[in-house]
Order: sequence, then structure tokens, then C-alpha cells
Amino acid sequence: MPTAIVFGATSGIGRELAEFLIKDGYTVGVTGRRESLLNELQVEFRKKVVPEVLDVQYLDKTTLVFDRLKSALGPIDLVIHAAGIGYENPELNWEEEHDTIQTNVLSATLIYDLSFHLFKEQGYGHLVSISSIASLRGNRHSPAYFASKAYQVNYLESLYFKAKEIKGGKVFVTDIRPGYVDTRMALGNDKFWMSTLEKASKQIYRAIKKKKRRAYITRRWLLISWVLKIVPSWLIKKVM
Ligand SMILES: NC(=O)c1ccc[n+]([C@@H]2O[C@H](COP(=O)([O-])OP(=O)(O)OC[C@H]3O[C@@H](n4cnc5c(N)ncnc54)[C@H](OP(=O)(O)O)[C@@H]3O)[C@@H](O)[C@H]2O)c1
Repeated sequence: MPTAIVFGATSGIGRELAEFLIKDGYTVGVTGRRESLLNELQVEFRKKVVPEVLDVQYLDKTTLVFDRLKSALGPIDLVIHAAGIGYENPELNWEEEHDTIQTNVLSATLIYDLSFHLFKEQGYGHLVSISSIASLRGNRHSPAYFASKAYQVNYLESLYFKAKEIKGGKVFVTDIRPGYVDTRMALGNDKFWMSTLEKASKQIYRAIKKKKRRAYITRRWLLISWVLKIVPSWLIKKVM
């Protein structure tokens, strides 16, 4: 029976992906801070989920939970990192910048590394992380969020290169870069740009199954990414 861990499975993209996996026969370790939402998953899917209440900012606890889930599930086929946070913070309030860096940079790195070490030891496995289109440029309203996503994208690319050195070619790294998705943390509320959670999650799940190196979600964001990469700063500063 295939196994997976989803970090950030209590709501939004992580919760949707956890459900897809369960319906596809996976046993899934699900984590998040909101215990009641983890309990709901357990009531709905019983033996298919192993819940662990976890605030990923506590790094020692994150390592402990990772080990506990390994013991409970056995070999792990897939780790999805969907635990993320973002603020509109034009005033550069330090608490919000710090919170973002703790979650999206420090704990993300720990989860990436724990997964990579495990997969290297197993000789197989698939690490997926939900980064963002925000990784491509700076933004005056949410500097820490945009920078943290650039960090994730570069770290994931490094792990992708490292995975290529592992004999057998069975360790995969997938970087998912959504645009706006209608979840509680969506930064922006323009419906034209916003994908429904259902549509985005389906596209993400397809990209995971194909073990894509990276995917823009929804597809229109691939075109937008090309533009974002070439527009000069003097022009983009008018919109970002
Ligand atoms: N929605 C968008 O427009 C969009 C666009 C691009 C990228 N993304 C990325 O997609 C990922 C998922 O976000 P979402 O849109 O699905 O929003 P969401 O519904 O708010 O989901 C975020 C998940 O992360 C978990 N999380 C946050 N901080 C945590 C912490 N300190 N410890 C443990 N878990 C934590 C939350 O669980 P608890 O609150 O229960 O802890 C929740 O399960 C994020 O990395 C986000 O940056 C989202």
C-alpha cells in the first residue's frame, strides 16, 4: 500500500491533495496545528490517515513527528510540503516577516532535508513542495513571502540536481508554482486571477502523478511566468 505525508493538510491545497491520495489508496500522515480539522479527517477516513498535530516552527518537534510517521507508516513514497504562510505586510512589521521566514524558509528546509535523506536511504521517493509564482519577482506589499518562495524554488532545484546523483533514478523532486488559488491565505481577491481550489488541486495532483519537475497552476500562469521573468524592474514596479 503506498504511503505519503502531507505537511499542512488541515485546509486548502494540502487538505485537497490528502483526500486525493486517500481516494487513490494511500495511507497518509496528515499534519497541521488545528487539531479539530485533523480529527475531522480521521473521522471521515479512519484507518487511511495518521494525524499528528504539529506547528512546523518547532523544529525539534517536526523531526520527532517525521520519525513517528515513518514508524507508523513504514517506507514513505511521497512527502507533500504544503505548510505555508503569507501576509500583506507593506509596513514591514517584523513579527509577520519573522513568522513567514520561520515557516516558509527554516521549517521548509528542515522538511525538505528530512525527506531527501529518507529517500536517499530508501533509494526511492518523491518530494513535492507548493512554492508559488511569487518566487519569480519581488513585491512591495509582501517582501518576506515573495523572498521565501524564491528561496524554496532555488532549494528545490538544488535537491533536484542532487537527486540526479542518486543511483537508480527513483528519487523525484517536484516544485508546484501556483498563481492565486481560492484558499484562506490567498494574497489577492481578484476573481479573474483566482483559480478555484478544486481546479488548482486537480491540476497539482496530475503534475504530481506525472512526477513533473515543476508545474505552474493553473496553466495560464506558465505564460505569465515568461512575461514576469523578462519585464524590467522599472516597469514591473508599477504593478508589484
Ligand atoms: N492560495 C494561494 O493563492 C497560493 C498561491 C501560491 C502558493 N500557495 C502556497 O500553497 C501552500 C498552501 O497554502 P493554501 O493556499 O492551501 O492555504 P491554507 O489553506 O492556509 O493552508 C496552509 C496550510 O499550512 C499549514 N500551516 C501554516 N503554518 C503552519 C505551521 N506553523 N505549522 C504547521 N502547519 C502550518 C496550515 O495548517 P494549520 O493552520 O492547521 O497549522 C494549513 O494546513 C502555501 O505554501 C502557500 O504559500 C498558495
